[in-house]
Amino acid sequence: MQWPRSLSLSSRLLCALAIVVAVQTPPILAGQTPAAGDAPSPDLAARGRGLYLSHCMRCHGPNMITPGTIAYDLRKFPADQKDRFVLSVLNGKGAMPAWGGAVTGDDIDALWAYVLTRGK
Ligand code: HEC
Repeated sequence: MQWPRSLSLSSRLLCALAIVVAVQTPPILAGQTPAAGDAPSPDLAARGRGLYLSHCMRCHGPNMITPGTIAYDLRKFPADQKDRFVLSVLNGKGAMPAWGGAVTGDDIDALWAYVLTRGK
């Protein structure tokens, strides 16, 4: 490939750099939907965060950082145990009250999506 004589060396370098960036940038903006197992949808996690603030934060702490209480550190909840999460939230566990009367299936999905963000 011949560079036009009018281009300075730095312009050529910039041009080459632009090509490298264009080739290496993954097509994240191409409207791909995440496959199962990928990060949860930000909308769902945001709704879960709202529920967390009203129902869970007083024991599990802001951003899931427990304020030194006996409450479980939700940032460490195993990501592959959603069933356990649902059962513990619905039925309660130890000193944690049952939430079955306050949160529905959809709410639990949202809370789960939020827990998977680890509070970030
Ligand atoms: C009154 C305080 C309190 C509130 C409010 C609370 N929790 Fe808990 N939670 C606890 C305590 C204490 C534990 C540890 C229970 C144990 O293992 O004995 C716990 C444990 C858990 C666990 C781990 C259960 C397991 O299987 O080991 C999950 C998940 C959980 N809480 C989710 C939630 C969610 C989601 C909410 C809001 C809907 C919530 N908690 C609200 C006190 C609370």
